[in-house]
Amino acid sequence: METRLLLLRAALPLFILCLSAPAGGREFLSLRSGDSLSPEEVEDVLVSPKRTFSGGFHEVGTNAYCFSVWFTSSVDKTVVWMANRDSPVNGRLSTVRLEKRGNLVLKDADGSRVWETAASLPAATSVELSETGNLVLLNQTRGVIWESFASPTDTLLPLQPLTKGNKLVSRSGPGSYSSGYYSLRFSDDNVLKMVYDAPKVTSVYWPKPDISTFDSGRFPYNSRRIAMFDSLGHFSSTDKLKFNSSDDTPGRWRRLTLDYDGMARLYTLNGSGNWEVTWKPELHACNVHGLCGTYGICVYSPEPSCQCPPGFRMIDPSDWSRGCSPPSPPKCNSSEIDFLVLQHTDYFGYDLETYGEKVSFEDCRNRCLSDCKCKGLAYKLNGTGNCYPKFNLLNGYQMPDYPTVMLIKVSEKETTLIGDGEALNCTEQRSVLLNQYSESESQSPYLKYLVAFVAAAGVVEGMCILFGWWWIDRIHRREKESTMGYQALMLGFKRFTYAELKIATHNFREEIGRGGFGTVFKGVLSDDRVVAVKRLEVVSQGEPEFWAEVTFIGRINHMNLLKMWGFCAEGKHRLLVYEFMENGSVDKILFSRYAASLGWKKRFDIAMGTAKGLCYLHEECLEWILHCDIKPQNILLDENFRPKVGDFGMSKLIEKNNLKYRFSTVRGTRGYLAPEWMINQEITAKADVFSYGVVLLELVTGKSAADFHEDVHNLIQWAQSKLRQGDEMGIVDTSLAGDVNEEQLRRVVKVILMCLEVEKDRRPSMSTVVKALQGDDDDC
Ligand SMILES: *[C@@H]1O[C@H](CO)[C@@H](O)[C@H](O)[C@H]1NC(C)=O
Ligand SMILES: *[C@@H]1O[C@H](CO)[C@@H](O)[C@H](O)[C@H]1NC(C)=O
Ligand SMILES: *[C@@H]1O[C@H](CO)[C@@H](O)[C@H](O)[C@H]1NC(C)=O
Ligand SMILES: *[C@@H]1O[C@H](CO)[C@@H](O)[C@H](O)[C@H]1NC(C)=O
Ligand SMILES: *[C@@H]1O[C@H](CO)[C@@H](O)[C@H](O)[C@H]1NC(C)=O
Ligand SMILES: *[C@@H]1O[C@H](CO)[C@@H](O)[C@H](O)[C@H]1NC(C)=O
Repeated sequence: METRLLLLRAALPLFILCLSAPAGGREFLSLRSGDSLSPEEVEDVLVSPKRTFSGGFHEVGTNAYCFSVWFTSSVDKTVVWMANRDSPVNGRLSTVRLEKRGNLVLKDADGSRVWETAASLPAATSVELSETGNLVLLNQTRGVIWESFASPTDTLLPLQPLTKGNKLVSRSGPGSYSSGYYSLRFSDDNVLKMVYDAPKVTSVYWPKPDISTFDSGRFPYNSRRIAMFDSLGHFSSTDKLKFNSSDDTPGRWRRLTLDYDGMARLYTLNGSGNWEVTWKPELHACNVHGLCGTYGICVYSPEPSCQCPPGFRMIDPSDWSRGCSPPSPPKCNSSEIDFLVLQHTDYFGYDLETYGEKVSFEDCRNRCLSDCKCKGLAYKLNGTGNCYPKFNLLNGYQMPDYPTVMLIKVSEKETTLIGDGEALNCTEQRSVLLNQYSESESQSPYLKYLVAFVAAAGVVEGMCILFGWWWIDRIHRREKESTMGYQALMLGFKRFTYAELKIATHNFREEIGRGGFGTVFKGVLSDDRVVAVKRLEVVSQGEPEFWAEVTFIGRINHMNLLKMWGFCAEGKHRLLVYEFMENGSVDKILFSRYAASLGWKKRFDIAMGTAKGLCYLHEECLEWILHCDIKPQNILLDENFRPKVGDFGMSKLIEKNNLKYRFSTVRGTRGYLAPEWMINQEITAKADVFSYGVVLLELVTGKSAADFHEDVHNLIQWAQSKLRQGDEMGIVDTSLAGDVNEEQLRRVVKVILMCLEVEKDRRPSMSTVVKALQGDDDDC
């Protein structure tokens, strides 16, 4: 009661629209000496004269409250200031009170003083929330004794100065209000910077640390250190940093917030009460330090996300900033060390004393090897021979076209394990954690910027982490032939220009194949590698999606899967560049008069290799990489007739939004389609198993499923009736002239029968197929 009287007295002449208290709570224009607010009456708030801002208790967790100031009318009641962000108080019996002595005190339920304005200040007689969002303590003559503007949390409001003595500190994560590790502040050289301030490390990431202060347009010789923006969003700072909001409509509210992802953004409140990003620094998400922790690597896919190097484990699945741990601590004894190789990757900062410039790759590597402090090295591949040994691996990032290769020390035992080519689990590589922002800002300049960046830089190869990983093993072997190492590293998954591929293929002259997705041409790259260039004709995706998918396919690496060396996405052109396979596709030999040149051993090896390739796609990679178009035309043979499955992942490039591929004319080829395609059932890996069974049948019989009037069931029935009569040899291709390993034939026949089951659940998985072909019957 007393409170209200006091309030009325104070508010009288100026603030007439006060006290129109809406449902539940009361609104105060000021608190007088002795007045208090409490979380029990959370709807009681202090308001600014026009009610733009409210002050009071804000719930930050279950029964946890912070004394805060927020925008009354923004949809999410955006908090702009907090008194006790790191020590919330109890929802019962806590109070914030202007004490008789004249300071504002926040007490928790147990009476402890959680926060207060300094008692040494002159006595205040009232607390008000000004129309600028500033919470002020006033003396009798309305002189300001204390103001919240002088101790910001993560947000700066128009006309609120950021000065020598204060800083913005980010929140620690989405949904959290407590202090995080990022800050925006003037550093000792008078330049406004964004800094990652973790317990053990401090590093500046904006302005970009590899650019000098002057080159980034800053001026360190003004020591006043004040930065501010006006109500139209024109920002200026004493270090000559100036920028404007992209929307300068008068009368709109704005705020500059250092978000939890370490990025400062200027927001403008639009007519519907939502914030739109109207400025953000020229910095992309992966340039922010500390995001992915020790060993972690920030990549675009195309959203920024963190990954661990292969074989490493994320330390805390809920918090990337804690980084990754190696399978075992790196040793010092150089004979027990190996290197994990990551293309287009660097870890920023923490360079040991450099080994000098113009160092050869081998030299750089050997010196790191014999230096226990060296945890890894970054080597520039742009020909200048720059070698950067690191004593700490933080701030990892991978950028498209980044001409640096990163070698990380690991213990030898581990690398042989993961370098083995089949033990790698792709599932773990797709941990996308940081994309909350890209969602809420899908229309914003930020995303456009990101996309523009990606476009400009030509993404991709960046993402070929895995590609590099496969070099581990090779590097190891190559120790003796060390000069090759450097060259091999230069060859990576690459983005080609259309002009390059036009030259490589002599203007697409030599056609070597044609399929549902496009035409394949033979070509020779400038480095003399022979390639197969596939020109896609049915891609409907935009470039970012295309990059993301192609990148993902580019990472897949298995000896029985056709390797993609690069791609081109330019305007409407979409091309894929694959290794060239000397002996073409299986159908060209199997169904020709040269069928006899494909003896039993080669056919069995093709069956086995194909099964292993598919097994990798289905099980060791991501489950949803179904091939969906297995046929002899898509099984290619190298000069030694080793098979590699091609055309995988295409379904992702074509029908992005259709994960449970419905029947479509694009996918699948009649004759190889599992029955569920026809009856519009869900397509699973077992559809590939069926198609594989048909291919196996073709390999044995030498008969093309297509010859059976496009109805494979005729072929299957013919084979099944022979087999029922126990006549296994009866189905074998006569051009083999009896050259058959009967034990292997028995296994193959068994697999064929299992794979061609009409009921998909009765078909085996591809790993079972591999075991069955190997004669390892336990699992069948
Ligand atoms: C109130 O504060 C202002 C500014 O701090 C000061 O100039 C003024 O003397 C103070 N008035 C009283 C009565 O203390
Ligand atoms: C910001 O806007 C003001 C007024 O329109 C203009 O004078 C100034 O040059 C702009 N600054 C920048 C950095 O664009
Ligand atoms: C305000 O911004 C939101 C989110 O950015 C958007 O959905 C909405 O259409 C905008 N409203 C107006 C009136 O511009
Ligand atoms: C390094 O390891 C090798 C083989 O394990 C061993 O023979 C050698 O003594 C070790 N050297 C040191 C300095 O520990
Ligand atoms: C190679 O990169 C280094 C470091 O970024 C740079 O200093 C040098 O100028 C580059 N050289 C060429 C030829 O681009
Ligand atoms: C791959 O890793 C994921 C996540 O750690 C796990 O759930 C899955 O079982 C693994 N798959 C294989 C084949 O190891």
